[in-house]
Amino acid sequence: MKTLDALFNPRSIAIVGASRKPGKIGHEILRNLIEYGFSKKVYPVNPNAQEILGIKSYPIVKSIPDEVDMAIISVPAEKVLDAVKDCGEKGVKVLVVITSGFSEVGNEELERKLVELAHKYGMRVLGPNIFGVVYTPQRMNATFGPRDILPGSIAFITQSGALGIALMGWTILEEIGLSAIVSMGNMADIDVAEVSEYLADDPNTKVITIYLEGLKPGTGSRFLSVMRKVTMRKPVIVVKAGRSERGAAAAASHTGSLAGSDKVYDAAMKQAGILRALNVEEMFDWARAFALLPLPKGENTVIITNGGGAGVMATDAAEDYGVKLYDPPEDVKKKFRKYMPWFGSPKNPVDLTGMATPKEYYCAVKEALYEDRIHNIIVLYCRTAVCDPMELAKALVNAVREAKRDDIEKPITVAMIGGEDVAKAMKYLNRNGIPAYPIPERAVSAMSVLIRYARYLKQVREVKNV
Ligand code: COA
Repeated sequence: MKTLDALFNPRSIAIVGASRKPGKIGHEILRNLIEYGFSKKVYPVNPNAQEILGIKSYPIVKSIPDEVDMAIISVPAEKVLDAVKDCGEKGVKVLVVITSGFSEVGNEELERKLVELAHKYGMRVLGPNIFGVVYTPQRMNATFGPRDILPGSIAFITQSGALGIALMGWTILEEIGLSAIVSMGNMADIDVAEVSEYLADDPNTKVITIYLEGLKPGTGSRFLSVMRKVTMRKPVIVVKAGRSERGAAAAASHTGSLAGSDKVYDAAMKQAGILRALNVEEMFDWARAFALLPLPKGENTVIITNGGGAGVMATDAAEDYGVKLYDPPEDVKKKFRKYMPWFGSPKNPVDLTGMATPKEYYCAVKEALYEDRIHNIIVLYCRTAVCDPMELAKALVNAVREAKRDDIEKPITVAMIGGEDVAKAMKYLNRNGIPAYPIPERAVSAMSVLIRYARYLKQVREVKNV
């Protein structure tokens, strides 16, 4: 059993401080665990209760008549050390310490004692000062955040609690599927590098996203060397807060970690193969693309559009993001020309014009999928009366599925500009394996990062072979 198995795949969980009162943190964690469908054993621990949410409660962890892999600690700070000792004597493997009031408020001594005591019993500590942990393959929502996390293959590690909880709700709304959510808090023991290392081996995680504020003093070089290995296995996307001087100072006082010079972080992250996103929207845009799409086999990219303006915006974005637009030779242009009126353009962007219906899109996209010299496809759509967005979405999904049956898989991102029916069509695409975005720039940005990561892997592998 790996050290962090108890954190992601516990066979049983005790909740120390499982309150009887709805709305209190310990109560809500227990409720989330039960209602999200955790199938393993759950033991509320509360000396003042007999039963909570219909489950027998125990006065102390030691009185639980079963092995306990994970204990969630949700009692006030002054009671935490006693709870840790109780867990240690029981043989608990990992502690998820929700409680605040440690190094983040200058109480370093208590935090040091917490870790020291835990280690004395061979236990690891996540936190303190966290909202918990989610692992969707086990239907484990051990947090006091939103409950109905959509399962998927994106892992999300966050150093900010409130932002993390808020983003949990946002991912539900945006239908972003997650494998894991890990609140890091003060990182007194288990840190971002260790969690990333574990998730690099997790078959249910395809891409790792991290909201990072700063690293503990002295942990920078280990972080980078671990990340260098992780990024060889899976893409890692980081939003590093505290880019500005004032932001860095705010980050330092938030989690008590060193923010460091942003330029140094930036260069180091690049070297380690980490993809740095500017904000959380971009991070999840990219993550969705990695979760759904194969990696590019080359850099030749075509844009297929029904609107010249959208095509121009995407072309500008391609230049900004370093996406190489393929110049189709005459024979390829001839193929595209079949699906457009005489005033269309078979160059790149391939402009099917406002007359395009789902059928023309389907045919042009199929040409691009089956053309070996084209590696990546960006489809743009502006809502017109002659092209129903849902019909278009279905046509695109069919084209991709048919190609897949012939063993052809290429990354394809889509931008759809329009109103409510367009939003529905985008949801359909996202649910069916094609990432769709509301503006061209985001579709290009998502494609660019796939290309960048594939390029990085190729370079590193070439260097290693030398
Ligand atoms: N073992 C187990 N349960 C105990 C206990 C013990 N030794 N001592 C008390 N309890 C019970 C209490 O009786 C209570 O249950 P009840 O409501 O049924 O009576 C429950 O544990 C919780 O204790 P309580 O004293 O009411 O604490 P609380 O729920 O008000 O606060 C924390 C506890 C951990 C939530 C709070 O101290 C805290 O740190 N809050 C901040 C958490 C946070 O924001 N984390 C970061 C997020 S990003």
